[in-house]
Formats: sequence, C-alpha cells, structure tokens
Amino acid sequence: MKTGMHARTALAELAEALAQMLLLNRASIIALLSVLAPLTAALAARGAEPHSPTLQVAVAAPGVWRLRFGKPEKFTPTHFRSAPMDTAGLAAMTSSQSMPLDLAKISFRVSDRGCSLLLPMQAGESIYGFGLHTVLFDLTQSKGGQTGRRVFLKPTDKPENDLGESHAPVPFYVSSLGYGVFVDTARFASFYTGDVDPVSEGAGRSGGGMKTSSAGLYGPPVRRVKTMLVDVPVAKGLEVYVFAGPTMLEAVERYNLFAGGGALPPLWGLGVQYRGYTRYGEAETLALAASLRAERIPCDVWGVEPGWQSHAYSCSFVWDKKRFPDPDGFVRKMQAMGYKMNFWEHAFTHPSSPIYDRLKPWSGDVRVWGGLVPDFATAEGRKIFLQQNVTALFDRNIESVKLDECDYQPGSATPWSFPLATAFPSGLDGELMHSLFGVLYQQTLWRPFQEKGLRTWGMVRNSQALAGPLPYVLYSDSYDARCYVRGLLNAGFSGLLWDPEVRTAASVEEFYRRLQVAVLSHDAVIDSWFIPNPPWEQVDRGKNERNEFMPDRQAVSDIVRKLLQLRMRFIPYLYSAFHEYQATGKPPIRALVLDWPEDPKARQMDDEFMFGDSVLAAPMFAGEPQRQVYLPAGEWYDFWTHAPIRGGRTLEATNGIEQIPLFVRGGTLLPLAQPVEFIQPGTCFDITVSSVGSRATDFTLYEDDGVTTAFAKGAQNQIVLHADGDQHSIRRRGHYRGPARYRITGWTRF
Ligand code: GAL
Repeated sequence: MKTGMHARTALAELAEALAQMLLLNRASIIALLSVLAPLTAALAARGAEPHSPTLQVAVAAPGVWRLRFGKPEKFTPTHFRSAPMDTAGLAAMTSSQSMPLDLAKISFRVSDRGCSLLLPMQAGESIYGFGLHTVLFDLTQSKGGQTGRRVFLKPTDKPENDLGESHAPVPFYVSSLGYGVFVDTARFASFYTGDVDPVSEGAGRSGGGMKTSSAGLYGPPVRRVKTMLVDVPVAKGLEVYVFAGPTMLEAVERYNLFAGGGALPPLWGLGVQYRGYTRYGEAETLALAASLRAERIPCDVWGVEPGWQSHAYSCSFVWDKKRFPDPDGFVRKMQAMGYKMNFWEHAFTHPSSPIYDRLKPWSGDVRVWGGLVPDFATAEGRKIFLQQNVTALFDRNIESVKLDECDYQPGSATPWSFPLATAFPSGLDGELMHSLFGVLYQQTLWRPFQEKGLRTWGMVRNSQALAGPLPYVLYSDSYDARCYVRGLLNAGFSGLLWDPEVRTAASVEEFYRRLQVAVLSHDAVIDSWFIPNPPWEQVDRGKNERNEFMPDRQAVSDIVRKLLQLRMRFIPYLYSAFHEYQATGKPPIRALVLDWPEDPKARQMDDEFMFGDSVLAAPMFAGEPQRQVYLPAGEWYDFWTHAPIRGGRTLEATNGIEQIPLFVRGGTLLPLAQPVEFIQPGTCFDITVSSVGSRATDFTLYEDDGVTTAFAKGAQNQIVLHADGDQHSIRRRGHYRGPARYRITGWTRF
C-alpha cells in the first residue's frame, strides 16, 4: 500500500535534519547516534515508524470499508454507538460494492498537533452533509463559486453561521460522485472541502496578482476543487469509513444502516405537539389543554416546560408542589384527554436534587449553573442520574422528554456551559464530552423506554454522528425561516431529524408560512414556552403576554386547524417513510439532489424538499407573494388543483398565504387519511388512495401496534396498495394481529 506524500513528510524532514547535523561537527553526530541507536532498535522490533504509520484497510460490511492509521482515540462515535450496525440491512443492498476512492491517493499524517488526512476530490464534485448546519448546503461552494471552504465541526447553540458549527456537527459527508466518508472522531475537526493546495500535488494555484482591495486579496479566488483535507486535533490516528453508492442516496442509506438504521416514531409521535407556557402550573395547563380539545385543534403531545421542577436552572428533577400539587393526578388527567406527555429537562443537576451527593463522583470537575455535569460515559453516572428521572417522571408513565441545553457556545466570550478543559471520571475531556454529550444524554434517557419495549419520540438540542437510531428530534432557539428549511434538507444527509418549530411571528402571514414547514417536518411542534396563549390567538409576543388577542383570532384558528389537519392526513404516508428509514436507511425528508443527483439544478436547490417518496414541498416565506419552484424532469401534479405539470423546468408558484405549494410525482400512489384530532390505541385511519399520473408504482402501508418495539420481531403487516387504471387491489401480509390501522375507503385519480 502506498502511504502517500503526506505520511512521508516527517521522514524526509528527519533525513534533512540528519544531513545538516552531519555537516556540523563530530560531537553532534555522536550525540545523534546515541539517541538514534535505541530508537532504531525499537522501531526495527515493531516494524513501524512513529510518524509514518501504514494505512490498514478492512471491509466492515458489504459496501463499507474501514481505513485505519496510527493509534485512534478510544472515545469516538463508534465507541459509543447507539445501536449495532444493521449488517443484514447492509448485506441486503444489492447496488455496487466496489471501493469508490483511489486508496493510492489517500494520505495521512500524525504529528504533535493531532492527525490529518488528505482525500482525493474531482473538479466539479459537490459535497453535502456534516450535520445540521442551517446556512450552508453544497459545501464546496463559497462566495467565489466552487472554491471549497473550511467546515469546522463544533457543537453550538447559535447555528445560523457559515462556519459549519451546529446543534449536530457530524463528521460524515456525501459526495455528488456517489460515495460517503465518515471520520470516526469526537474532536472538533475541520474539513477543507477542496480549499487546500498541497505541494505534493503538482502545480499550485495562483492568487491572481495585485489587487486594490483587501476583499480582492483575501476573498476566495476561483480555483479548482481537488483535495479534501481533514484536520483532527489531539488524535494520533483515525478510523475512517468509506461508503459505496453508486448513488448519493445509497451512500447515505449505507451510513444510516452502519449507524443501526433510522428511528421509528410511535404513531402519536407523528401527530402535533404543543408546548405550554413555562410559568403555568397544573390548573392553567389542564385548562389550556382542554381548550385545544374544545376547539378541535389536532394535538397528540403536550410539552411541559421548566415550571414543573422545584429548581430548573440547574435542575432538581423534583416537582414544584406549589405549581403542581398532584403530579400523579395531573399526568393522569392529561393522558385521559388523549395527550402523550413530554417533560423538559437538562442534565445539570442542582444541589437540591436528591441524587446530587451520589452523582458528584460521577460528574465533571466544573459545575454549570451551580449544577453537576453528569458523566454519561460512565454506567454509574447514567444509573444515578436516571434514578431521579424514574422517580419523578418514568414511574408516572410519561411518554417522552425534551433534553435541553446540551450544546455549547464555541463563539462566545462567556460560554455558559462547561469548558473544554473539564475533566470527567470516564477519561473524556470537555471537548470530547461536548461532542458526545447530546448522544450520551439521549441514550441514557432512551433506556427506560427500551427496557419496557416502548417507542418514544423526544426532543434534543445536541447530537453527533451515528444518531439515526436515536428517537429524538433536534430543535433550536434560532428562528430564521430559511435556515429552518435548509436544516430540514441538511438533516437528511446526516442521519438526523429536525423540528423547525413555530413560536411567535411578526405577522399572521409569517405564522402560516412557518406552520406550513412545521407540519411537513420530522416533528410538528408549536413551542409556546414563553407565551401564555396559543399563538393563533395572538402571534405577537408582547401582546400575547399582555393577553391582547387578535380581532380575527377565530378565523386564524380555523386556518391553523386546517394546516394541522394537513399533517394528520399525511400520517399513514409518513409512517411508511419512517418504516423505510428504519429498515433501509432512506431519509424520510430529503434534499432534491438525493433523488436527482445528475440534475445540476437539483444539486443547488436548498429550499425545496421531498416529503416521502412522492411529494415535493416548496415552502414560501413571509412577504413573498410568489416563488420560483424547480421541478426535476418527469411528470408532476399540483397537490391542490391536481393539474398536470411537466417537470425539468422552473415555474412560478403564487399560492395564497394559507397554502404551501406541494407537487406530487407522477406514477405514484398517495394514501391520504381522514384527519383525526389525535391518535388513540385503536385509531384506524380512513384512507383515500390517489392514483397520480400513469402507471403508478405500488405503495406499502405499515401496520403495527404503533407504540411498542414488537414490530422489529415481526409483529407488523405490510399492506401493498396496487392500482392499474381503474382496477385496484390490496394485499396484506405479516404477523400483526391487533386492531386494523387502516381502512381503504376510496380510490381516486389525478
Ligand atoms: C431553551 C429551549 C427552549 C425552552 C427554554 C425553557 O433553552 O431552547 O425551547 O425549552 O429553554 O427555559
């Protein structure tokens, strides 16, 4: 195996130093030889040189290769994986399994700084992925065109940046050439996506000569993307996984199966979630929850914000008996109204918490908001932390949790979370812990559900690599509407889920536009944590706080109900997309480039997305009465008017403020349900199947109990819908014997 120029540099430097010393004097030579003699002997015995390790290549699974050099760190994403690799799923993939990269062109270096890796790229190659950043899309693009850029993977609570920092920085990327690369590290790594010019690689790139502005001097020159440089601090070796395509989508599927497959929500997790005002106690919460039911606003999940705890920043994990005098009764009454309960918390543990003293030895050596930072990388830390959660929440059969404040502030002069120099009993330092904190926290709080064989669908503010199997959706305090849409697309490249939640708005129009994106996302959340009244009664925060209602609030809530019903109509369709995510790794929501990789327009399209296999959504933004929509080649149909549209071109959408432009791919079957207000154990959806365009491919509905993990052991039916002109058939196969979930009540065509 050729190790490449990068690996050979250290040896060359040593030889040069030796030559220079040999020219110096005899004493130096004697000194040098006395140092080198034992070292040379030791190296001969090991058969290796410390700074030019060899590259070991192994097949990890069909279509997945592990490259290894040097001595990788112990604490990496694979070390803490959330689920075993789905070897059966990977073996079932029939597409090409040949190594997509030229190994001879891969080089690496280990130095005091850490280690680095050079990977070949080709001119015109686009790169996507790296987690939930919300500003960037094709990561080879910067202001000067395709010049490459640096993507610096750091967890942050301020994701609206073009640096690569995000709530979930993931060291995985997928190339338009149809392969994926995962660098197994929890360090804050940088990826230079073509923006490097290695001396070892022939002629250099000119800066272009004299300029008369500093922007001209230092702005990105137009140059050829040719090499990916990965810079990993501290580590003295790495494992890198390469995923074959041959399409981008297959490379992403392989990465997700390598992670263990995608998370399957409970059916109720696909419904609407409303999060109540943080200052509300039991009485106000019950009254508000009842009013949503009275107004027939669809809602499955109720979120209780910090107010349930006696101390919230940091957390006591003890109920505030003034606000919630009867926790058992409260949870029971909410559940009796059909709500699934989600409770807010973060991990930092307040001294008043009953677990504080026991948790102390299993915590970091720095406090946050006066609370301990549990070391979730230790079994003891997890166990003790969980005990208080069980007492306060899980023993009351709550259905899910929101795991807040687990990200970091790399760009802040006054970060509130723990420093990178924090030491943890497990041996993790603060940098590693910041990368892994969200994943370890999710795993810890997932456990009680796993033990009961139950599914959950929670929220989290930080994640990292291999997060596919984790049943948590990311959210943010950031609020830019376009960033929210881009986050949805980017999540699909990296095995992540995203909740572009709705809070308040500057206008009713903005409120509708935001809600239209929320209902077509992984989790449809209205997060009213800082407003006492539902936003459809008053979208303006200040007025909402003062109980000043909009004069047309009734009309607004009627439209909101309809928008939320759109979500409910899509539930069976979306449930199928998630079942396929779980089994095949195919993301349920995707950027167009994943389905049309050869289409240059699709490659740059960062504000349209596929919602499942058949529906293309083109969100509109407040203040813009029309938008350009690009439809890839093929036949399309307007979801609302059923009008046929020829693809392969851009059209103008002028949908009014109550409607999001949606397009259905020709040749598909689209099952839409009669909307229910919330999902109950026996819910059976009445479904109308639309046969869209000519020669529709079959559609599979997945039927199971909707809440347990029994589906994984075969307690599942697949209901195959088939249409041929006006002839239809329904084939049911599988071993689920519970109440039927679907009743096909009609077939239509458009
Ligand atoms: C924020 C979180 C919000 C809300 C709030 C409650 O940090 O992002 O969604 O939960 O805390 O204090």
